[in-house]
Amino acid sequence: MSDNRPRRTFAVISHPDAGKSTITEALALHARVITEAGAVHGKGGRRATVSDWMDMEKARGISITSAALQFVYRDHVINLVDTPGHSDFSEDTYRVLSAVDSAVMLVDAGKGLEPQTLKLFRVCALRGIPVITVINKWDRPGLAALELMDLIEQQIKLRPTPLTWPVGEAGDFRGVLDRRTGEFVKYTRTAGGATRAPELRMSADDVPEVDADVWAAAVEEHELLSLDDKDHDQETFLAGVTTPVMFASALQNFGVAQLLDLLLDLAPAPSTIDGVDGTPRHVADDFSAFVFKVQSGMNAAHRDRMAYARIVSGEFERGMVVTHASTGRPFATKYAQAVFGREVTSIEQAYPGDIIGFVNAQALRVGDTVYVGEPIEFPPVPTFAPEHFMTATAADIGRFKQFRRGIEQLDQEGVVQVLRSDLRGDQSPVLAAVGPMQFEVVQERMTNEFNSPIRLSSLDYKVARRTDADGALALRGGRGVEVLQRSDGTYLAIFTDQWRAGATARDNPEIMLEPLPAGG
Ligand code: G4P
Repeated sequence: MSDNRPRRTFAVISHPDAGKSTITEALALHARVITEAGAVHGKGGRRATVSDWMDMEKARGISITSAALQFVYRDHVINLVDTPGHSDFSEDTYRVLSAVDSAVMLVDAGKGLEPQTLKLFRVCALRGIPVITVINKWDRPGLAALELMDLIEQQIKLRPTPLTWPVGEAGDFRGVLDRRTGEFVKYTRTAGGATRAPELRMSADDVPEVDADVWAAAVEEHELLSLDDKDHDQETFLAGVTTPVMFASALQNFGVAQLLDLLLDLAPAPSTIDGVDGTPRHVADDFSAFVFKVQSGMNAAHRDRMAYARIVSGEFERGMVVTHASTGRPFATKYAQAVFGREVTSIEQAYPGDIIGFVNAQALRVGDTVYVGEPIEFPPVPTFAPEHFMTATAADIGRFKQFRRGIEQLDQEGVVQVLRSDLRGDQSPVLAAVGPMQFEVVQERMTNEFNSPIRLSSLDYKVARRTDADGALALRGGRGVEVLQRSDGTYLAIFTDQWRAGATARDNPEIMLEPLPAGG
């Protein structure tokens, strides 16, 4: 059960296989889990608590749901919001980042910054979310620590400010130098990392003889880093100019307690968020929250619908009647839930930074605000650049009414973006997605929920740019480009590849062609 202890709400951004599941489990092991919301991927049967709300999800053994894991550490409540990130990478992965106050960028020491990490990082940068970097798998051979610092600086333009520095190169992990205290945190390997690896702290004078050489090398690099202005500075970290870095082995549980300490000591607590009209909503104000994800069909028998909201201000109490900002209607929260998936339990109270799920909240859409007291409306959750495009047609034309209703519903929920043009007509709209898995969700729900199986066919487009009505006219009939309109009125010019998008923009400077956030 939650209580009103201080909060930290964060997400892990990483590329598949960097160790997100492993570190999530390790964090939960160190802290005391309060609620679990399908946050952990169920690979290899490691956990049975994954929310398996759709058959296809079960078959794949992955979690499509993004929810939160809540735990207590050093008298703080930590909300770890999951970023679906394997083959289930989707627009939701990005949206989750609107619900967090900081992000942990998990980097595989052997691979450096990988594409999905970079995409997610760009969303963090766009939203001004401070990023803590964890270099993982230091127990395995990998890149040199200084080289990794260079990669961070070059590829994401953040100045790395290591808080710990490895003693021993990747694959020869002796421990870390705590750059703030000058201590040696010795690493001891445990069998399979099943239990907590003891983190033995000692002063520089007590460093064992066997580690003396590598310790001296680490001290030297540490001094170089200081000369190079790479010491942690809280202000530049919060401003998104620097990123504190630490070295870990999630598998061996090394660095996990250090990460929890960092989250408490450095990561920002929930704070004031401005409404669309600029009115600030302070955490101590009346209750308010915004929806960042809507999910239907979690239980095939009930066709239920869950709207996940992040609390911005005030105390939430179950049963509270809140106002839905976009309709002005009251909304009873009798069925607010803390834990999702099949193991649903009611939540009694929740506080700023927490994630709550509203059950059967048919009216709630992504980006919607709910509040009590003084009215507030938070800015919309942005849409992101789709990279996959398919046309959808009703398999049975006699079910066109159901087809239209289903597509409209999925569009409103933000499952996919629905694009139309006069040329294509209403019979076969274009569905646009950040990740291909979103199409499978559409197919499944159109068949089982809206009783209108569909036929999807791939389009050879990969890149979207925002344009306007003039651009739509000018680009009409162009090779390798098509202009379509989203239901919010935005015109998207979609291109077969980056090269063509670039060449079109260069050759036609008068045409508006703006990149969309992330991947664009
Ligand atoms: P993900 O959720 O980011 O995709 O990664 P996950 O935690 O599943 O980790 C991917 C693989 O990397 C796993 O191995 C995991 O055991 C390994 N791994 C994670 N952290 C570390 C680390 O600090 N050191 C080392 N050496 N390995 C690490 P796998 O063999 O692919 O899967 P599994 O059979 O162990 O589940």
